[in-house]
Amino acid sequence: MPKPHMCSAALLDKDLSGQTFVVTGANSGIGLVTATQLASQGATVVMGCRRTEEGEARAAEIREQHSSAKLEVYALDLGKLDSVRAFAKTVQDKHDALQGLINNAGVMNTPQQKTADGFEMQIGVNHLGHFLLTELLLPALKAGAPARVVIVSSCFHDKAMGREGKIDLGDLFFEKREYDGWEAYAQSKLANLLHAQSLAKRLEGSGVTAVSVHPGWVRTNLARHSMPVWVQNYILRPVFGIMGMIEPWQGAQSSLHAALADDVPEHSGAYYSQLGVYRDKSFNKGGWPMKSPNPAANDDATADALYEKSRTLVGLA
Ligand SMILES: NC(=O)c1ccc[n+]([C@@H]2O[C@H](COP(=O)([O-])OP(=O)(O)OC[C@H]3O[C@@H](n4cnc5c(N)ncnc54)[C@H](OP(=O)(O)O)[C@@H]3O)[C@@H](O)[C@H]2O)c1
Repeated sequence: MPKPHMCSAALLDKDLSGQTFVVTGANSGIGLVTATQLASQGATVVMGCRRTEEGEARAAEIREQHSSAKLEVYALDLGKLDSVRAFAKTVQDKHDALQGLINNAGVMNTPQQKTADGFEMQIGVNHLGHFLLTELLLPALKAGAPARVVIVSSCFHDKAMGREGKIDLGDLFFEKREYDGWEAYAQSKLANLLHAQSLAKRLEGSGVTAVSVHPGWVRTNLARHSMPVWVQNYILRPVFGIMGMIEPWQGAQSSLHAALADDVPEHSGAYYSQLGVYRDKSFNKGGWPMKSPNPAANDDATADALYEKSRTLVGLA
């Protein structure tokens, strides 16, 4: 079994004083570790949380470990565009300049549901909510350049439990085809990867770098729609460990590398993968960065079309 990719000790010791990062879904799993690490290095971290009480409780725990941690917790429901706009306004009111936006929050394999704005839940939360947030925070990111947008995708953008990752621009919300939770997740995670590519193209010369990442198969609450989380964490944990499931600390490494490593701006638009499960096993060891084996992930025309469609859907066209 190959070992997970890990950031260097020097990278995780870099002084981030004076820098401000926004992390979505910062109250749980990979987002919580990412926020904790950035704050421990001196950054101000804005924690975007759907459940603010949970966010405040986690922020209090971070402050117990790192007494000087600079944390702000604001409400963010990516399934409600009004909430995204309100969150972005709060962030902009408090911060003229940002050095990082980590689009981390996500849901996986949900039952068929719609967001408040009528989007299929997984593409709505994982991609469209983050798409609007990114567009609204771009002025602050440009003002804070050099800055980064890190979009947490998944190796399941390639194939999720046998379902091929593809974007169906004619039926993004599964209104004409039968709904499948894994197919919808694969579509949303492919959208994440393509979003980073289009951003990189549009942001050339701005000092803002955009990349996507796969964090690995990580023991978090993400599995909640596929199995009870206690089954994953207790009953199946030894087996899953042998099969390659990693801990949140290891799972945050791709995001931290993408947010902090010096050479990432040379690879704007790229995909950074922890160990993963790909259709072609030779890709399973991942790479920082690596080219996705999914031909749909290397398709500029779809990336451009998705960008335009996303602008229209979130009311920016
Ligand atoms: N874990 C893995 O194996 C794995 C593999 C590949 C990719 N990923 C990606 O990693 C990212 C982080 O997931 P995780 O594994 O850390 O799972 P997690 O522990 O379930 O964390 C997900 C976070 O997203 C938040 N969230 C969900 N719906 C939201 C909404 N409508 N608005 C705002 N926030 C919302 C959750 O908030 P609540 O706590 O309120 O639910 C939580 O903070 C996701 O994008 C996921 O797709 C994970």
